[in-house]
Amino acid sequence: MKRIWCLLIFATVAPAADAPRINGPKVYGVHPARPFLYTIPATGPRPMKFSARGLPRSLKLDSNTGRITGTSPERGEYTVTLRARNSHGTAERAFRIVSGDTLALTPPMGWSTWYMAYAQISDQLVRAQADAMVSSGLIQHGYSYINIDDGWNVKPGSPDPEVGGAARDGEGNLLPNKKFPDMKALCDYVHSKGLKIGIYIGPGPLTCAGYEASYGHEEQDARQFARWGFDFLKYDLCSYRKLIKDRNSVEENEKPYLAMHAALEKLDRDFVYNLCQYGLANVWEWGRRAGGNFWRTTGDVGSAKAGLWERVSEVGFSQAGKEKWAGPGGWNDPDNLLIGQILWHRKLQPTPLTADEQYSYVTLWSILAAPLVFGGDMTKLDDFTLDLLTNDEVIDINQDVLGRQGAPVWKSGDTEVWAKDLADGSKAAALFNRGESEADVAARWRDLSIRGKQAVRDVWSHTDLGEYDGEFRARLPKHGSRMLRLRGLNR
Ligand code: GAL
Repeated sequence: MKRIWCLLIFATVAPAADAPRINGPKVYGVHPARPFLYTIPATGPRPMKFSARGLPRSLKLDSNTGRITGTSPERGEYTVTLRARNSHGTAERAFRIVSGDTLALTPPMGWSTWYMAYAQISDQLVRAQADAMVSSGLIQHGYSYINIDDGWNVKPGSPDPEVGGAARDGEGNLLPNKKFPDMKALCDYVHSKGLKIGIYIGPGPLTCAGYEASYGHEEQDARQFARWGFDFLKYDLCSYRKLIKDRNSVEENEKPYLAMHAALEKLDRDFVYNLCQYGLANVWEWGRRAGGNFWRTTGDVGSAKAGLWERVSEVGFSQAGKEKWAGPGGWNDPDNLLIGQILWHRKLQPTPLTADEQYSYVTLWSILAAPLVFGGDMTKLDDFTLDLLTNDEVIDINQDVLGRQGAPVWKSGDTEVWAKDLADGSKAAALFNRGESEADVAARWRDLSIRGKQAVRDVWSHTDLGEYDGEFRARLPKHGSRMLRLRGLNR
């Protein structure tokens, strides 16, 4: 009898496995009176019905798609209760819309063309990838930006008829190349999927791959991007580097980024602004002041001379010490996630990283509160890569509203323990073994600045590991890691 009661209680309290779960950020920043698009990320079998309580009047929700559109409300904070229902149950989540001066209140999540295609991109490729962001389910976990990188416009002097020709029209407006016949239609298409779309250019005369850039046309180009309907700009220093006389001068390095920021501010659209200048003049110290929502802190992760793992760990672990400058609205960017099918040695192929290295990569980017920009081919996602990208407990740590960048709290030889404070008072901890053989790693409470009994949860496997006091110890494989969430029990 007792057992039946237990089962009954469990059945009513525990959410059914197939009940919806609302994922993604819990806070969303916009500027007032701009076009608004947010798709509620929710997992669970369809059909699903969405509703929202407390939605500002200027916004409307499509109850079938979960898409919120309209015009962002006047300055203020709006707490909305999002709800998703399917035949297995209902999920509810509080969602704060902050209409003010700051975008990217949590690290942006999306995808970029660069590491799967370099400059060999086209309208068709971008549409197929947008389709795949939806059909793979990535959109249901909070991925929302489809970012076009270098190679979309004209390459002055190129003999290739597809990318050569006039870079601007008679009025100086930027022209896309022949592989992008209608940029507005492409932006509309991506928006029609509930996603956002990003574009790429630089402040110099040319981009890194030799395509036309914005030097002398900054405002005009920004206006063109807005007319087409873009939502995001990656601004890549490249040839402007030669125009900087003192490479350590903050003023000189900041100038082109401030200029484009001023141009973006005048537009009637929200643009998330990504500074890409490889960490010059300690960009993390002034990237936010220059208007950046995230800034690359290093050279490319993909420019690995030795192995990819060596480069991933060099770039990722070197974010330590930069945590002071990261937070809501402005994030350190250690570059994209090179997992799944990526261009490697100029060929589209599976990432050379081992499974343990890939877990460590995503663990590190998540505890760092780094933007999660997938670099692989979304039309060729295998289950392992999809699982790595869509673990909602891992994403919750990345997207936590406190917006802390995790930092190392203990190091010894090749082993490290990192920690990140979370908004609900719990703590994320990541244990890493960067060495070439198995190692024991202990997360000690005194290093984590916590006390007493802790409920320890393994976030990757969604398993409660039990109560621990003083420390948690694990044996980690070569290049392996563990990500935990610890909740104090004696409060
Ligand atoms: C690099 C940049 C890469 C990619 C590339 C395009 O400078 O760091 O992320 O955008 O240029 O040519």
